[in-house]
Parts: sequence; C-alpha cells; structure tokens
Amino acid sequence: MSIHRPTRIVVVGCGAVGATTAYTLLLRERCEELVLIDVRRDVAHGEALDFRHGLPFTGKTKVWAGDYADCAGADIVIVAAGAAQRPGETRQDLLPRNAAVVQQVVAQVVEHNQDGILLIATNPVDVMAYAAWKTSQWPAHRVIGSGTVLDSARFRFAIGRRLGMDPRNVHAYIVGEHGDTELPVWSSAHVAGAPVSLPPEEKDEIFRETRDAAYEIIRAKGATNYAIALALDRIVTAILRDEGAVLTVSTYLDDYLGVRGIYMGVPCIVDRTGVREVLPLHLDETEARLFAASAAALQAAVARLP
Ligand code: LAC
Repeated sequence: MSIHRPTRIVVVGCGAVGATTAYTLLLRERCEELVLIDVRRDVAHGEALDFRHGLPFTGKTKVWAGDYADCAGADIVIVAAGAAQRPGETRQDLLPRNAAVVQQVVAQVVEHNQDGILLIATNPVDVMAYAAWKTSQWPAHRVIGSGTVLDSARFRFAIGRRLGMDPRNVHAYIVGEHGDTELPVWSSAHVAGAPVSLPPEEKDEIFRETRDAAYEIIRAKGATNYAIALALDRIVTAILRDEGAVLTVSTYLDDYLGVRGIYMGVPCIVDRTGVREVLPLHLDETEARLFAASAAALQAAVARLP
C-alpha cells in the first residue's frame, strides 16, 4: 500500500505579502500542511496560532511555525522575505537589501529540499528569482518568480472596467520586468476573440494605471498584499493541480527574442514540473523595442547582485 505524502507548502517571510499569501492558501485549502517561517520567530508563531484558531471554519490544514528543516518534502517553498517598497521607492531600490536575504534563505532551503519548487515573490522579483536560481543551483524550471502575473491581472481588470466586461474574459499580457520597464502586449490583447479596440490615449492611461498601481496602493495604505497573494495562489494552483496554465511568471530566458541569461515575465506553461515551456511572444515593432529595453534594465540590475 503506498503511503500518502501530504502536500506541503512553506512560506518564508510573514510580512504583509507572506502572511496574506499563507492565509489565502489556508482559506482555499491548497495544501494539507502549511508551514510559516520568519526570522521573527514570535511573528511566525503568532500568525500560525491565529490561523489555527480559524480551522473550525476552514478545514483541516495542518499549520505551524517551523524552521528550515520543515522544508524537507515541501512541494513548494514561497519566498516572500525581505524589505517592501516604502512610498516613492522603486522595486529596484530594494535590491541591495533583499539580495542577501534571498540568497541566505534559499541556501537554507536547499539544505533540506532538493526536489521542490521555489516560488519567489520578494522584490525586485525578476532579479531575486535569478539570485534564487543561482544560489539553489536547481534547474531553472523549478525556480519561478511571480513575474508579471499580478501586472497582467491589473491590466485585465483595467481593460475589463473600461469595456464593462468581466476581467476573466479579457486576455491580455504585461511582460518584461515586474516594475517600471514592464510593457503591455496590446497587439495580442483580445476579448472573446476580438482585438481590444480603444483610442491610443485610453490605452496609454490603462497601461499607466497598471504599471503604477503599486505606487498608488503603497501611498494609500503602506503596502500591497491582497492581489499579489491571489497571484501567488494562482501559480500554486497551476503547479499542484498540474494545470498547464499559461501565466506570465518570471522565468530564465536563454536566447528568447535575443534575450539571454536573465529572468523576465513572459507567457509560460506552468504545471507540476514548474515552468514546463516558455511560449513565444509575437510583438510588434514598438513592443519589441520596449521588451529589449526591459531586458537591458534587468541585465544591469543582475550585474548589481552581490
Ligand atoms: C506589487 C508588488 C507585489 O506590484 O510588487 O504590488
């Protein structure tokens, strides 16, 4: 008789993003075991205790505050540790502080786990995913950044609102850096099979609203957490259910539209193996130029890694 191995997700970093992501995974019962790790052990303990008190309302997920030994056997380790943007800060401004954090976290994870999937949320996420890949020395398909999954969701929401349609019926991608150099792929944006047809100035406004959303939210409430948690939950579900979902996660590019050697958000097929396949992008001339500029910005950022 085969012994059932419970699905386990570890969340490292119980700040706004990590705690909200863990809570989202609990509410949606994505796994049988949910482990919280934070350098502030009392915070991880308090979050786990608070979650456990809700179990009579949610189900039978086993939740505990753990340490890196609990990464053994984990299906997915989500890394959300590190500093968050302060008002006015760019994501790249976090690089000097967060690179060492992610490198230290991943080095400890891989001491206990060699066959799981690393899902990086710490910003600047494309550079942190690259740092996690280098530190782990795992195959790139098992080291994934949240990429522009959240940006594409914001983009779809903004288009849907403008058209008065359910954003779930809007198919449109933001690709490139999860940050100021990201770009909208209007040329392939469609609703019900028809191209999204809007005046250029409205398209520009929709993209500005998408790209700058985090700055507005951080100014208003200090941090973003809910939509990124749902984006991470979407990626987790695609992995654990072996969906083969197309998501613009951040993945390693090796001669993709001339880009090589960095992580960027592009359409990928995500399943139980992680990134199963990187899908081609068909960009128009403007989009190709912006994609190259985003890649150049990320090459420069990666060069700043310690
Ligand atoms: C945001 C953070 C997750 O875009 O970078 O909300």
